[in-house]
Amino acid sequence: MSLVTDSQLETPRLHLRLMQASDVDDLLYIFGDPKVMASFGVATFNREQMERWAQRNLDHQNQHGYGLFSVILKSEELLIGDCGLEHMEVDGVQATELGYDFRSDYWNQGFATEAASAVRDYAFKVLQLPQLISLIRVGNMASKRVAEKIGMQCTVEITRNGVPYWKFAMEGPTNLQA
Ligand SMILES: CC(C)(COP(=O)(O)OP(=O)(O)OC[C@H]1O[C@@H](n2cnc3c(N)ncnc32)[C@H](O)[C@@H]1OP(=O)(O)O)[C@@H](O)C(=O)NCCC(=O)NCCS
Repeated sequence: MSLVTDSQLETPRLHLRLMQASDVDDLLYIFGDPKVMASFGVATFNREQMERWAQRNLDHQNQHGYGLFSVILKSEELLIGDCGLEHMEVDGVQATELGYDFRSDYWNQGFATEAASAVRDYAFKVLQLPQLISLIRVGNMASKRVAEKIGMQCTVEITRNGVPYWKFAMEGPTNLQA
């Protein structure tokens, strides 16, 4: 199964291509930034942790046929974020999460919303997934706003590993926005 092998998503300002092992240095600009990691309540990644994280995502691509995209800002040919899909189990139910992380020097310009909208449409129209969720740490207002802007709704608050999350969800393929 290699639905993802040729997957490239295009938006007016962004190019989304599948994450590659060679993206680790660029990803470290994101995950090595305390402002980004404050959203997760964890310390910044070093190179080894970044490589492990990237490898987990590459393994996920191979196992599930979809995964995270690296988000390239076309005007600068620069990797400014990641956005994509992750299969997970939430309270015993299989689910696909839409997630996103961006360089803090590119925040609040609508890039996460633009990328997440493209991934949402890909998930529903191409992969034909029935539902997407996003688990957002309670208090992460920027992420909550992105989820709302792409048409997701907070359905319930849950706790995972002692951490409270808003569970956002959206059914496909109706109600596509943004
Ligand atoms: C969440 C994140 C990806 C958003 O990226 P972004 O490119 O800045 O997102 P956008 O510009 O598309 O939208 C951000 C929205 O949040 C709003 N926002 C930002 N900070 C906010 C805050 N503290 N309170 C309320 N709203 C806030 C912005 O005003 C904007 O909404 P608007 O368009 O209605 O004005 C980015 O902040 C990030 O990478 N954070 C760290 C990692 C993270 O939290 N990932 C998500 C894990 S669930």
